[in-house]
Amino acid sequence: MVRASIPNNVNLDMTSASGLFLDHYQDQFRQWWDDVVPSEFREVPMYLRCPVGCDRAGWADFRFVKPGEYRWGLFQTPMTERQIRFGDRAGESVWQTVPEEHRDLLLKHIRVQADAEPGSVEQSANLARCAPSNYDLRNLYQFLLEEGRHLWAMVHVLVEHFGQAGEDEGHALLHRSCGSDSDPRLLDAFNHSIDEWLSYFIWCVLADRDGKYQLSTVSHGAFDPLARTAAFMLFEEPFHLSIGTQGIERVLRRSAELMQQHDSEDIFEHGGIPLAVIQKYLNYWSPRVLDLFGNDESRRAREAFEAGIRARPYEPSCSDHDGQSEQLMVDRRDGDVLNQVQVLEVDALNTAMRRRFVEEVQVVIRRWNRILDAHHIDTRIYLAHERFNRHIGPAKNLHFDPQGQAISAEQAQQQQSSWLPSDDDRRRLKSLMQQELRPDHYASWIAPPTVAINNKPLAGFAYVKTADTASENTVEVPHA
Ligand SMILES: [Fe+2]
Ligand SMILES: [Fe+2]
Repeated sequence: MVRASIPNNVNLDMTSASGLFLDHYQDQFRQWWDDVVPSEFREVPMYLRCPVGCDRAGWADFRFVKPGEYRWGLFQTPMTERQIRFGDRAGESVWQTVPEEHRDLLLKHIRVQADAEPGSVEQSANLARCAPSNYDLRNLYQFLLEEGRHLWAMVHVLVEHFGQAGEDEGHALLHRSCGSDSDPRLLDAFNHSIDEWLSYFIWCVLADRDGKYQLSTVSHGAFDPLARTAAFMLFEEPFHLSIGTQGIERVLRRSAELMQQHDSEDIFEHGGIPLAVIQKYLNYWSPRVLDLFGNDESRRAREAFEAGIRARPYEPSCSDHDGQSEQLMVDRRDGDVLNQVQVLEVDALNTAMRRRFVEEVQVVIRRWNRILDAHHIDTRIYLAHERFNRHIGPAKNLHFDPQGQAISAEQAQQQQSSWLPSDDDRRRLKSLMQQELRPDHYASWIAPPTVAINNKPLAGFAYVKTADTASENTVEVPHA
């Protein structure tokens, strides 16, 4: 296999131990990618954003690239004079190398964070085969390629700073796989593969937003190479979130139109997704993503905070450095009962972060509901209560309704198919997932987009040049 050079702004020395490892890792990575991502689009030009570095001209170029020729680069934001702003070492300079006393904690953290990147590629890659439009296929590839790049970025940090243990982790990242019985992804949410676009859009709204929070914790952290790597990933993440937010907006617009046209809520037979089904899928995914934040009260989160490894995502706006000045109410379990107790922020960092996350999601949901309102539809989309259907935290395996009220196991069982997708919902949703790649055409269940990519026209422009694309686009001179 001919290895390509690795685009980077990290002064990668290809003769160093980490340079040599990464050079070889390309083969293994490419093998994994080819196993996971459908091969039929490998040679199809797509209008993609490619990172180029950090300068005044911007951090990325848009150009037509074949996925088979995309190069997963290594990029960090520039090094600046920076002090640790929180924890026991607040006021000291950030670390350029790994302090021996925090080596295990850091490695453990990076390992879990990195595992999410290939996990999300594995989860969604097959959606390329049922993309609802040319535009959406392009967005999916942008997402997949960037999640692949994030894997590269994390492997770079691992091998550059953790020697053999980092190299072992680099290999393990490609060996674990989504949903595997013997070697699954480390976090449960990444072990559920996705075969329809409704879940994918919800996933981008929720899980990529969780990703944004997790990246923010280390981008303010003391380990500078990880902080700058995460800060560059945070340039890419907002687009992933917007794929989801706008995707659901388009689904809702289309569902609302069909409901009006046919004066019916059950619009499956008219090619649309019923609002009740959208709600059930949101109910399915939201607890899984809330679980990603970890236990409500967490000694481990406190330890990582005090060590300087993980900040609060909103650290720059915090008035204290030790998490001792704010308090919050959390559920604490006593047998099968939850009691509300007041605790210091430093003892419930995961909860504090999750609550910010929930507030942000509520803003998005309010925007979605305005679409329903504009169509004179009374149904409202909502986010289930943080206790609903949880597998981590104090509510783990207890029964609550989506409003957070305790219910019996029988009640939970009876309501299962009204709160969560039934087999029939899954089958009918899956049957709508027909590939549509002709420019300006959209699958029956989704409205056309209203937001263009890099100011390209929304109509008459093929974001992916498949054989179906009638018009030949002019390849633009790349600009940032
Ligand atoms: Fe990512
Ligand atoms: Fe992402």
